[in-house]
Amino acid sequence: MRDAFGKFRTPYYYYDTQLLGETLAAIKSETDKHEGWHLHYAVKACANPKVLSQIQQAGFGADCVSGGEIRTCLKNGFPASEIVFAGVGKADWEIELALEAGIQCFNVESIPELEVIAEIAERMGKVANVSFRINPDVGAHTHAHITTGLAENKFGIAKEDMIRVIRVARQMSGIRFVGLHFHIGSQILQMDDFQALCFRVNELQDQLEAEGITDVKDINVGGGLGIDYQNPDGHPVPDFKAYFDTYAKYLKLRPGQHLHFELGRAVVGQCGSLITRCLYVKQTATKEFVIVDAGMTELLRPALYGAHHQIQNLSSTSPERTYDVVGPICESSDTFARDCQLPLTKRGDLIALRSAGAYGETMASQYNCRELPAAYTTEDLNL
Ligand code: LLP
Repeated sequence: MRDAFGKFRTPYYYYDTQLLGETLAAIKSETDKHEGWHLHYAVKACANPKVLSQIQQAGFGADCVSGGEIRTCLKNGFPASEIVFAGVGKADWEIELALEAGIQCFNVESIPELEVIAEIAERMGKVANVSFRINPDVGAHTHAHITTGLAENKFGIAKEDMIRVIRVARQMSGIRFVGLHFHIGSQILQMDDFQALCFRVNELQDQLEAEGITDVKDINVGGGLGIDYQNPDGHPVPDFKAYFDTYAKYLKLRPGQHLHFELGRAVVGQCGSLITRCLYVKQTATKEFVIVDAGMTELLRPALYGAHHQIQNLSSTSPERTYDVVGPICESSDTFARDCQLPLTKRGDLIALRSAGAYGETMASQYNCRELPAAYTTEDLNL
C-alpha cells in the first residue's frame, strides 16, 4: 500500500474510483425508482477530469456556476442539454457562452440578471430557459459560511417576490419560464432540514396555483447532503436512501413535473484523499508538530471553516502520540488538526487527509507561488 502511494511526488489528490463507482450506483439505485427525477452533479465540488467523466458516464447532468465550469463539462462529455447554470453574478460572456452551447436552463437570482439574459438572448436570436432561484428562508443545521437558504443570505429571490418575477419573465420574448430552484446549504445531515424545504416548496406551489400559474415544469431542490467526516471508513457511502426518501415522501410534485437535484459533496467527498508527506517533526515547549508538505493551499477547508478531516499515517503502526498537524504556509491558520492522535510519526511518512474529494482540489490556490496539486486515481496507482 505504502509503495503505491509513494510512487508520486507529494502532495497530491488521490481519487478512489471504485468507491466513486459504488457511490454513483447507490445514488442511481435510489433515483431510478422515480420517473422524472434528474441528477445534476455540482461541479464546484470536484472538477477533476477523470472524476467528471466517470460521473458523466454514470448518467448525471451537471450544475455549473461559471463559464469555466460549463467549458470543463462540455470538454468532459456532458451534453449541454443537461447543464444547468446557477450563480448570483453571471457575467455577460458567461451568459453568451451558455446560450451558444444551448444549456438546459439558467437558475436566475434577480430581476437585473433576468433583464440582461433576456437582452443577450434576443440579440443572439435565442430563447433562454429560466428557473428562478427562490430563497426559501429555511435554515440548515450547518456551518454559517455554507448555509444559503436564509432571507439574510445573498442568494435567490425573496419568496414574496416569486409571483411578480414570474409575471415579468412571461412578458419577455427572450425568456421561457420553466421552473423554480432552491438550495438551503451544504453538509446537511439532518433530514428535517430537507423536509422543511419540501414543506416550503409545497406552500409556494399552492400559492402559484392560486394565482393561476400552472406551467411550472421543473422543481430543482439543489444539493446539500453531508458526509461523515469523523468516520469515513464507517460511512464511505452517504445515506442516499434517507435523503431521497425524504423528497419522495414530503414533496408534492404536480402531474408531469420534473424534479432535479444538484448533489456535490455527497457524490465525491469520500472518494478523495489528500496525500502528503511528513517533512519534519518539531518539538516546542508545549507542542509536538508534524509539519507536512501539503498546506491550506491544497486543502483550504480546515483553515476557512475549521473543518475536520481525518488524518491517517499510512507508513506507521507505532503507538500513538499527540500532535498538531500543520502545513508549510506562512499563516497560523495553516493547521490541519490540533492535538490529534497519530502513530509515532517521522520524516518521510505518508499521511492521508481523508474525505477531501469535495471542495478540496477545486479550492486549491497558488498562494506562496506554490504549484497546484497533482491528482491520481486508483488506476494510476495500480491499486
Ligand atoms: N447547488 C447550489 C446552488 C449550490 O450553491 C451548491 C453548493 C450545491 C448545489 C452543491 O452542494 P453540496 O451537495 O455539495 O452540498 N466550499 C464549501 C461548500 C460550499 C457549497 C456551495 N454551494 C465546503 O468546503 O464545505
